Amino acid sequence: MTETQLEIQKITLSNQHGMSVDLTNFGATIMSINVPDKYGTLGDVVIGYNQPEDYRDKDNPSMGVPGRYAGRIGGGSFHLEGVDYTLDQNNGRNCLHGGNNSLYKTTWNIEALSPQSVTFGCISPEGDGGNGIDRTGFPGNLDVRVTYTLNDNNAITIRYEAETDKPTVLNLTNHTYFNLAGEASGRNVTDLIVTMPAKEYLAVDAEMLPHEIVPVAGTPFDFTTPKPLSHALAHTDDPQINIAGGGIDHTFLIPDYDGTTLRLAAHAEDLESGRSMDVYTTELSMQVYTPNSLATIPTKDGTKQHGRHDAICFETQHLPDSPNHPEYPTTILKPGERYTSETMYQFSVQAAR
Ligand code: BGC
Repeated sequence: MTETQLEIQKITLSNQHGMSVDLTNFGATIMSINVPDKYGTLGDVVIGYNQPEDYRDKDNPSMGVPGRYAGRIGGGSFHLEGVDYTLDQNNGRNCLHGGNNSLYKTTWNIEALSPQSVTFGCISPEGDGGNGIDRTGFPGNLDVRVTYTLNDNNAITIRYEAETDKPTVLNLTNHTYFNLAGEASGRNVTDLIVTMPAKEYLAVDAEMLPHEIVPVAGTPFDFTTPKPLSHALAHTDDPQINIAGGGIDHTFLIPDYDGTTLRLAAHAEDLESGRSMDVYTTELSMQVYTPNSLATIPTKDGTKQHGRHDAICFETQHLPDSPNHPEYPTTILKPGERYTSETMYQFSVQAAR
């Protein structure tokens, strides 16, 4: 991104149920989500920092909106309309999350703000994702907007919009690290009960690039009925869990994709706190990521470091490396077209009996 003088700010949205969401325009990032547990006590379910500048200054495993292309682009290159484009190789020989100057490391404009909604916008100039020397970066100047809205039903909707002045590729997501038990609870996500309607997932190769779309049936990736995450995490003998270092870092295909209808992608429930979250999206698929280490990030009260499997990310998006897979649904955006995508995180609570 170009240098900008924009001030890094923290914004708080709150609804009539006392739920609140803190965000920063640095990376269009969700900093915290305060939701009640079964006793009505508010708790923060997001791993991150207290100060918005910390997302710039401290370790930041893509906590905001990664882009221009969330996930990996193999070999850090792709071919589009007769031209070869080369990107930062920031993940082995591949490009991850759009390269070194990803959108989650960018200070966005605050374009609109009201008590329950904020719109962040930025221009990602042509060449973003490259180095200005021997890596071309992405084509086209991209005008991007992300709107977060907190409604009175304890749901956060995220609406993405973008336009370009040259054909380009684009894949946007939200990379919030959730822990429904509470970020300072000391409990990891192993016991989180997860249900996902996905009947297929994307098996990866040793470089975490797409290998093959395969059925989840009979694998540790089958969450078509409710199961604790340990159903996958404990399967360290499974080659796919093994490739991801003993966790999940895989794309699940969400049934009934039509580009505009919000469909259920996941239901996650923490039995002890009674908190649950439903993920709905218009997107084709969802990267589910259980980080194997968050050791550089402390709890927000500063008392503990985070550990293995302390969070889960539900990253709704298109398939990784689609620019190199013409058989996958397209991620190409052309001038005159408008990219739109929407995801909703719906929170609820199972009342104490
Ligand atoms: C990727 C992981 C990566 C993580 C943090 C996820 O979306 O799939 O491989 O480690 O983001 O950047």
